[in-house]
Amino acid sequence: MSIISCENIEKYYPEGFSGRKKKILTDLSFTVRQGDVFGIVGPNGAGKSTTLKIILDFVRPDKGKASISGHPARSHTSHRHLGFLPENPSLYRHLTVTDHLLFAARTAGMPRGEAMRRADEILCTVDLSHAAHIPISRFSKGMTQRGALAYALFLKPEVLILDEPMSGLDPLGRQLVIDIIRESHQKGTTILFCSHILTDVERICTQIAIMDKGWLAAFTTPQELQQRKDVAKPEMSPLESFFLEVIAG
Ligand SMILES: Nc1ncnc2c1ncn2[C@@H]1O[C@H](COP(=O)(O)OP(=O)(O)OP(=O)(O)O)[C@@H](O)[C@H]1O
Ligand SMILES: [Mg+2]
Repeated sequence: MSIISCENIEKYYPEGFSGRKKKILTDLSFTVRQGDVFGIVGPNGAGKSTTLKIILDFVRPDKGKASISGHPARSHTSHRHLGFLPENPSLYRHLTVTDHLLFAARTAGMPRGEAMRRADEILCTVDLSHAAHIPISRFSKGMTQRGALAYALFLKPEVLILDEPMSGLDPLGRQLVIDIIRESHQKGTTILFCSHILTDVERICTQIAIMDKGWLAAFTTPQELQQRKDVAKPEMSPLESFFLEVIAG
């Protein structure tokens, strides 16, 4: 069953102050099925974050359409049961991570007792129990990233969209995020994310798309990559080798 679908999406952004427009996404079509862990990789500026923003309806496409669970991206229904981690999470600096989670609970109508229990649970999952009552202004980059991930996971979403979830994390933090993605996947969550850490992507994804200059240049799976192991460059992982092949042409 299709959970996220992009059909023939085109997106233009203004280029400087000239009034000219630059094509950012070209005829972008793909489907994320229920239970997939779908990873998008690609060079800086390829259009990964723009694609996620279109699915979330933060940005509107010039052509084509995106939908979640059969509902158009712009409908409120499509945003229910959705968790999102932005590329540069900006939490309120004077609030604590617990304040943020309790705010999310109030917007969802969750009773306070349940909200407190869930906050304890999710802060333990992202290894922030010790920082539950510290203002965000005193968080390191990695702590902020994990705090924002707690916010994305707090309401137990059925669909998770994560823009570079391993960014800024040390090896332990990266492993923690990998474990969280795997566990969410096992519980049936559908996950779409983009990342530059190709070794992580090939370890956890069921589907992988390589994006370049606004195109989806190739699709692959871990199974296909395993079969390519013999042709991969010895110093590289199969995905790193395939990525270079696709991007360098
Ligand atoms: N608001 C905007 N206005 C104009 N151009 C934009 C805007 N947002 C993004 N772009 C341009 O769109 C292109 C794609 O950007 P996007 O952020 O989607 O890339 P990305 O693949 O996520 O890159 P990165 O790996 O660096 O995060 C880039 O050329 C960028 O400069
Ligand atoms: Mg990006």
